[in-house]
Amino acid sequence: MSKKDQSPVIVSFVGQKGGVGKSALARLVAVGAAHRELNVLLADFDLEQLTCVSWNAKRLQSGVLPDIDVRAFKSLKKLVAAAKGFDLVVVDTRGLADNFTTEIVEESDLIFLPTGASFDDLDPTLALAKALRKKGTRRKIVLIFSKIGKSERQFSVAAASVEEAGHEILGETWPYRDGFQADLDAGRAGREAWNRYLRDAAIELENAIFERIGI
Ligand SMILES: Nc1ncnc2c1ncn2[C@@H]1O[C@H](COP(=O)(O)OP(=O)(O)O)[C@@H](O)[C@H]1O
Ligand SMILES: [Mg+2]
Repeated sequence: MSKKDQSPVIVSFVGQKGGVGKSALARLVAVGAAHRELNVLLADFDLEQLTCVSWNAKRLQSGVLPDIDVRAFKSLKKLVAAAKGFDLVVVDTRGLADNFTTEIVEESDLIFLPTGASFDDLDPTLALAKALRKKGTRRKIVLIFSKIGKSERQFSVAAASVEEAGHEILGETWPYRDGFQADLDAGRAGREAWNRYLRDAAIELENAIFERIGI
């Protein structure tokens, strides 16, 4: 399925905080896209950490398939030039909201804001979502709960406050499980989890994300 003459769909993971799963989810989506036989580029804009680029090095060393095209970028202009010919571009960003965040948000078709469900995490995320909208961003902003434990109530209380603030929240969450960390450390992501239960949870989230992207 090649769409050489069309612009790719661009989805970005942005956020005000580190450690909320931006890089983990960017990799989950890139792996999901490759399994869906989409031509995907995973663009790493976190030049200090290069999380996705380092992960891909481990992936290649361990021979994990399918191959994912992961590249580091410094400027949006370079990304736009490199993005031609891809079906989907997944953008991983730094853990802070700056001018680049505004630029990438404008260029993106969909923006995901992963966030913990605690107010410590949620409040800055709601503030960022509000600021992005104020800047005239008519693009879609979707929050995803990460670092979620096993309590249903944790999700429903936090989801209610997101909805009250007028933002969209994805119906599936990214649960915090030690196994996911071990998978990421070994160059795997999302549906590639070794543990069957984690795999199922990742696939549910992946399906919800792709349904929302509409690709
Ligand atoms: N669902 C999860 N369960 C367990 N560990 C996770 C999960 N998602 C991410 N991690 C780990 O938590 C840390 C932070 O996640 P990361 O995706 O890098 O966050 P961010 O990019 O927002 O800073 C990393 O060490 C990562 O391997
Ligand atoms: Mg990161």
